Amino acid sequence: MLCAMNFCVLGIESSCDETGVAVYARQGGLLAESLYSQVDLHATYGGVVPELAARDHARRLPALVAQTLDAAGIAPGALDAVAYTAGPGLAGALLAGAACAAGLATAWDKPLLAVHHMEAHLLAPLMEGQGADFPFVALLVSGGHTLLVHARALGDYQILGQSLDDAVGEAFDKSASLLGLPYPGGAALAALAAQAPAPLPGVKLPRPMTRQRSLDFSFSGLKTAFALALREQDAQDPEVRAGLARAFEEAVVDTLERKCLWALQAAGCTRLLIGGGVAANRRLQQRLAAAVQARGGSLHCPPLRLCTDNGAMIAHLAALRGPALAVAADAAPVHARWSLEALRPATPSPETPARTAPP
Ligand code: KG4
Ligand code: ZN
Repeated sequence: MLCAMNFCVLGIESSCDETGVAVYARQGGLLAESLYSQVDLHATYGGVVPELAARDHARRLPALVAQTLDAAGIAPGALDAVAYTAGPGLAGALLAGAACAAGLATAWDKPLLAVHHMEAHLLAPLMEGQGADFPFVALLVSGGHTLLVHARALGDYQILGQSLDDAVGEAFDKSASLLGLPYPGGAALAALAAQAPAPLPGVKLPRPMTRQRSLDFSFSGLKTAFALALREQDAQDPEVRAGLARAFEEAVVDTLERKCLWALQAAGCTRLLIGGGVAANRRLQQRLAAAVQARGGSLHCPPLRLCTDNGAMIAHLAALRGPALAVAADAAPVHARWSLEALRPATPSPETPARTAPP
C-alpha cells in the first residue's frame, strides 16, 4: 500500500512521437517508466507524420500501461489519479493519450488530471534534484519547441520569447538532412561540427532577430542561408562538410546565447535552465555555462533523459500539483496550442478548483 497516503499517479505522454507511461508517487518518486520512440516510424518521411503518430500511440498505450503498472508493482486501485498530456502538441496524438487516460480513470474511478507539456518540461529536472530554484529563466529547445520562459513560481510563468517559425531542433534536422544525414539529424550534425576546428572560412550565416534585442526566434531564414552556402561548396569534401556544420552550429549557439543573456537581464534572474533534445548539444552547454557563470549566474543542464519527452515528467508534474489539475473524464480536453501563461499559480489548498480551458 505504498500509494495510499502518498498521491501516486499514472501519467501518459503522447504529444508528439514518444509514447511515455510512468508511475510517480510524491514520496516514493519514480516507481516505473516505459518509453517507446516512434522515430523509426517517421524516419523515412524526414519528420513526424501526425496521423501515423496518433495511430501508433493508440496502438502502443494499452501494453505500455500494463507493463508500467506491473513494473511498479502497483494495482490500479492503489493509484490516486490518472494524468495525461493535454497540450500543447499534435491534436490527434494528444487525443490518443487523452482517450486512453480518460478510459482508465473512468474504469478505475480515479480523478483525471490534465498536464501542460511545457510545465512538465520545466519541472522535470526536480525529479532528480537537478532543477533550478524559482525564480529562473528556462530555454526549452527541441524539435517542436523554442521557448524562453520566466518561471516565477509554481504555475506562474511568463513567456519571454518563442519561435515565429521553425523550432531550433527542426532547423538542425532540416540542415542535417541537406547534408544527407538521417532524420533526426541534430546530434549527427553536431558530431560533424565537432570535427572542424572552426567554421568554414568565408561562410557567413545570419544570427536571426538579434539586431533589436528581440527575445523571439526565427530559424527558417538560417536554414535557407545554410542551404545556399552548401550549394556553393564542395559538399563531398569531408573538411568542407564539417566546416559548414560548424558554421551552422555556431550561428544557432550565438543566437541562443545572446537571447538567454538578454532574457536573464529582462527577468532579473541569475539561474538559467535548459531543456529539450537540443539542450544535449555540447557546444551550446559550454557556451551558455561560460557566459552565465561569467555574470555570476548558474546554468542548470539536466541529463538528456530528463530533457526529452517522457511519461515520467507528466506523472511527476501531476503528483506535484495534484487535484488542481482535475478535469472531467467525459471531457478530457486537449489543446494543440496552449500558452504556459494560461496556467494558474499553485495555491496551497487541495480544494483548488479545476482550471478553465484556454481560449
Ligand atoms: O526533445 P526531443 O527529444 O523531442 C522533441 O522534439 O519533442 O528533441 C529532439 C530534437 C531533434 O530535433 C534532434 O535533432 C535534436 O533534438 N537534438 C540535437 C542534439 N541531440 C538531439 N540538436 C543539436 N545537437 C544535439 N546534440
Ligand atoms: Zn517536449
